[in-house]
Amino acid sequence: MKISRMALLAVAVTLGASFAPAVSAQQPEAQAPLYDRLGGLKGITEVVDDFINRLVSNRTLNKNPAINAGRKSSPAPYLKFQVSQLVCEASGGPCKYTGKTMKESHVHLNISEQEWGVMAKEFKRTLNKFKVAEAEQKELFDIVGKTKADIVTRK
Ligand code: HEM
Repeated sequence: MKISRMALLAVAVTLGASFAPAVSAQQPEAQAPLYDRLGGLKGITEVVDDFINRLVSNRTLNKNPAINAGRKSSPAPYLKFQVSQLVCEASGGPCKYTGKTMKESHVHLNISEQEWGVMAKEFKRTLNKFKVAEAEQKELFDIVGKTKADIVTRK
């Protein structure tokens, strides 16, 4: 039997039209881990670098003598390393955080609710500067938020 070119074309168009949208609707692309969406270690270390620079130079935070003393015992490059490892691991990256627990490293700093708020504002400024999208910002704030009970020790 001879099938005309037009008939073949009609079949191809029909198949294409019925399969293509159905496949993409049924199999949405899996969401990449937050770590990858942040640009891996390169993205994370850039963000952490800017964030720690803001924290260590923040006048309100440095008025707290315990925080100010902590700056001397844990220099900025060390904090950048530890916080990067922590964020890398918590976002699904290949790192292993080996620093102290959040309680151990902050309990002596006498951190207040207000100081926590100052930190959160600086974090937001950093994320906006690097144009981190809202969805990823929210996921990062969720990760950071989980540490609050161990870090804030006064009203
Ligand atoms: C108001 C908020 C915060 C302030 C003022 C603050 C300040 C500090 C200071 C001064 C140190 C050094 C302490 C010392 O050597 O005695 C430190 C350590 C550290 N902080 Fe924070 N921090 C805050 C929140 C956070 C958050 C939200 C995270 C992570 C989610 C974090 C992660 C770390 C890590 C990983 C270390 C190093 C731990 C170690 O030495 O092994 N900090 N922080």
